[in-house]
Amino acid sequence: MNTSKTKNKYQIAIVPGDGIGKEVMEATLYVLEAFDIDFDYVYGEAGDECLQKNGEALPEETLQIIRDADACLFGAAGETAADVIVKIRQEMKMFANLRPVKAYPNTNSLRDDIDFMIVRENTEGLYIAGEESLTDEGAVARRIITREAEERIIDYAFKYAEENSKSKVTGVHKANVLKKSDGLFREIFYDVAGRYPEIEAEDYYVDATAMYLITQPETFEVIVTTNLFGDILSDEGAGLVGGLGLIPSANIGENGALFEPVHGSAPDIAGQNKANPIAMMLSAIMMLRYLGENEAADRFDAAILKVLNDANILTGDLGGSATTMELASEVKNNL
Ligand code: NAI
Ligand code: MG
Repeated sequence: MNTSKTKNKYQIAIVPGDGIGKEVMEATLYVLEAFDIDFDYVYGEAGDECLQKNGEALPEETLQIIRDADACLFGAAGETAADVIVKIRQEMKMFANLRPVKAYPNTNSLRDDIDFMIVRENTEGLYIAGEESLTDEGAVARRIITREAEERIIDYAFKYAEENSKSKVTGVHKANVLKKSDGLFREIFYDVAGRYPEIEAEDYYVDATAMYLITQPETFEVIVTTNLFGDILSDEGAGLVGGLGLIPSANIGENGALFEPVHGSAPDIAGQNKANPIAMMLSAIMMLRYLGENEAADRFDAAILKVLNDANILTGDLGGSATTMELASEVKNNL
């Protein structure tokens, strides 16, 4: 048997940040140690503590570490979150925000067969800095929809479906009212869909989608939508499957990608070894898949599933009394 298999080597930027960000990062790296993958970690500082220490929440040095890396794992920032994470996304032109919505056993999920991905446009729509201003009458915000950015995100969603054996993509918009901007989104959606004949394409209005996510969440596979709608629907998705301790996310750009739990620094439980590290671990699994390490990702995922199924070692948010590191050890033992 040939055992001299060469390992893949990756440079990973590690930005633990504040509060439980540091704890869930430590727990996740502890599990990643078990894989036969050569990760070269480069640590970067960012967040509230970094601001106190260095006078800025996101030093240029940290941005450079993220730029130079193959991928970044990010924990959580505190009050400076907007200055840190939003700035990284903009600097790195991370145009796709991916939020998987998946039911795990022994959690507060509405149903046990929920499993879909929300692909949100991350660079335009209603969320462009400088496009909101005060006027004599009140205030106005401009909503920008460009062919380039919408085609890029819609194509990303179809490609994601193709690569992950999903059979359907749902485009979400409000083209009945926003006839020009979302009319364009819908037109581009079906243009792109034409390039993927094996994948079913359907579209819904965003308000109807908000309802269908409650009444028939099991029917969705991949949802693609503009920035604001994606922001709102992804929090609805988090609510569907219960609990911030379980929701990962990815921010993908052409020159880099960042993986982070959806939760923040949780000052109410920080420093107590109580935080649920699963959202951070699932973010690391998304990173493994991004890097093409699917076998490792499957093993890591299966180990988490086993721990949740057994329900012996769970953190407080899931009704257990285990510590962050006890849960991490249990996951590692189940690999
Ligand atoms: P949060 O997500 O930190 O906490 C909300 C609630 O969920 C808290 O009760 C917390 O204990 C609980 N929780 C969150 N993650 C958990 C986990 N892994 N295990 C167990 N329980 C968990 O949101 P909050 O309280 O609104 O914000 C706290 C700080 O985090 C703020 O300074 C905020 O700016 C920042 N924040 C940072 C984000 C980021 O870095 N991406 C995202 C959201 C908030
Ligand atoms: Mg949000």
